[in-house]
Amino acid sequence: MEANAEVRSAAAGSPSVVGVLTLAPHVNAYESDIEQTLITQQDIQAKLAELGERISDDYRGRDLLLVGVLKGAFVMMADLARYIRLPLEFDFMAVSSYGAATQTSGVVRILKDLDHDIEGRNVLIVEDIVDSGLTLSYLLKNLRTRRPASLEVCALMQKLDVQQVPLDIKYKAFEIPPVFVVGYGLDYGERFRNLPFVGTLKPEVYRDAVT
Ligand code: IMP
Ligand code: MG
Repeated sequence: MEANAEVRSAAAGSPSVVGVLTLAPHVNAYESDIEQTLITQQDIQAKLAELGERISDDYRGRDLLLVGVLKGAFVMMADLARYIRLPLEFDFMAVSSYGAATQTSGVVRILKDLDHDIEGRNVLIVEDIVDSGLTLSYLLKNLRTRRPASLEVCALMQKLDVQQVPLDIKYKAFEIPPVFVVGYGLDYGERFRNLPFVGTLKPEVYRDAVT
């Protein structure tokens, strides 16, 4: 019951209380690579608490299956799931997108499929970021053919003005400018995923990587 009280207080605007739920310390070794913080840990937690409340209301009385898109969504998924006050199940898919670069290729490949059949299930896809939208569009098409009872999307971020396909994202935490971001699950060359906030990288980090 105490945890619930904390979640409610976060939704009411006391994110500092919720901060204790994600005790990821700042990583000193990353500090020189980060240009600026785009979304703070507190803002992320407050927004996820709010989305968790909405999802709890929307799915009450129905079975809920969260489908996380690996690897980027795993951090958000862990936090979001704890703000949803309903019984739920987890499954994961892994798709290839950027590899080590910062531009989308448009080619989506399933590296790991779901463990379970989703026919008749209420599926909520949890995605870290929607950039061109090609990954999500492919996933939605693919999962729709498996005849879930419902299929919706929860995304931490959507980049503005870069979407190449129309997408309906029911639960969206943040809209951001079309810049490359890391942290809170998102990587550059597999690094930075464990930062508790979302930030941008200094240009020299890319320069050094393109050799
Ligand atoms: P999309 O297919 O262009 O929408 O790209 C979606 C995927 O690309 C996301 O699930 C991320 O894995 C990755 N991605 C897109 N933008 C970023 C970013 O700014 N930082 C890190 N990964 C990103
Ligand atoms: Mg990635």
